[in-house]
Amino acid sequence: MLLRNHFLSIDPYRRWRLNDAKSYAKPQDVGAVMGGGAVAEVVESRHPRFKVGEFVVGPGGWQHYAVTDGAAFRVIDTTAIPPQAYLGVVGMPGVTAWYGLNKIIAPKPDETVLVSAASGAVGGVVGQLAKQAGARAVGIAGGAEKCAYVRDELGFDVCVDHKSPRFADELAAALPNGWDGLFENVGGEPFLNSLRHANDFARAAICGLIASYERAPTPLPDMRLVLVRRMKIEGFIVSDHLSNWRDALRELAGHVVAGRLRYRETVRQGLQSAPQALVDLLRGGNFGKMLVKLV
Ligand SMILES: NC(=O)c1ccc[n+]([C@@H]2O[C@H](COP(=O)([O-])OP(=O)(O)OC[C@H]3O[C@@H](n4cnc5c(N)ncnc54)[C@H](OP(=O)(O)O)[C@@H]3O)[C@@H](O)[C@H]2O)c1
Repeated sequence: MLLRNHFLSIDPYRRWRLNDAKSYAKPQDVGAVMGGGAVAEVVESRHPRFKVGEFVVGPGGWQHYAVTDGAAFRVIDTTAIPPQAYLGVVGMPGVTAWYGLNKIIAPKPDETVLVSAASGAVGGVVGQLAKQAGARAVGIAGGAEKCAYVRDELGFDVCVDHKSPRFADELAAALPNGWDGLFENVGGEPFLNSLRHANDFARAAICGLIASYERAPTPLPDMRLVLVRRMKIEGFIVSDHLSNWRDALRELAGHVVAGRLRYRETVRQGLQSAPQALVDLLRGGNFGKMLVKLV
């Protein structure tokens, strides 16, 4: 089928794929179309599962049109949910939040869940789901405006600004009873700081380490702390858990339609804006899901 891309998803992992190094997936081929998720309209179809005029989500890549055999694409229902949300809250980032929170942290009521990059596509969903599970949600975000949004619009109990010169003290004040679950999106110094506040039997879901995609890697923490706190630290990649996607997407879509899950988007215009959008995302220049609109 022939697809016309309407929205491109700009994701931090694309930066990692530009490294010519062994990782969980093969690097971006030089000279090939930049890969990435997209929401597209079916323009021509010789595929029995896809009809002209339907909207689909899948690996459309950074281009206006894509020709595909349909593998890894699925039809989306845009009657109650806008198409671009299938690249965010009801797409890969939403499932990432759902999986790390429910399958690794598994918060119990009254436990505390700490979330970095809390205003972002993944982090914003994590905190809201943690609140729905009865936990206390503490966010970390960059700047007063993002922190206010995390607290006042997403409903986290408190948000700490990692750019504040008093970050370490403010984080300690926000965690009077420590944390039981950590959803780590960033790494770096704030992450090492966070680990010091872990409770006994704490669970840390290592989702992303965006602070080190362009800079020095985050070192392993003091392993004595991991032992003394009997802590679980588990890295995960959402595409390894495809059997969970259907349940997660159904639940996330239900929350969005019912108005229980809020989200925000930064939308850049035109294909030529995609490279800068990725650069800006890696510097915190997005507010919510970073997208490029083509149509
Ligand atoms: N494991 C998986 O399967 C999986 C799947 C999807 C995403 N991820 C990871 O999840 C994380 C979040 O992804 P996303 O798509 O939701 O992006 P996002 O949170 O919407 O955007 C990235 C945010 O990271 C923060 N950031 C960037 N550099 C930073 C630094 N040096 N120090 C502190 N914060 C920094 C910025 O927020 P502030 O302005 O608030 O600092 C920025 O807005 C990324 O690490 C990504 O790689 C993992």
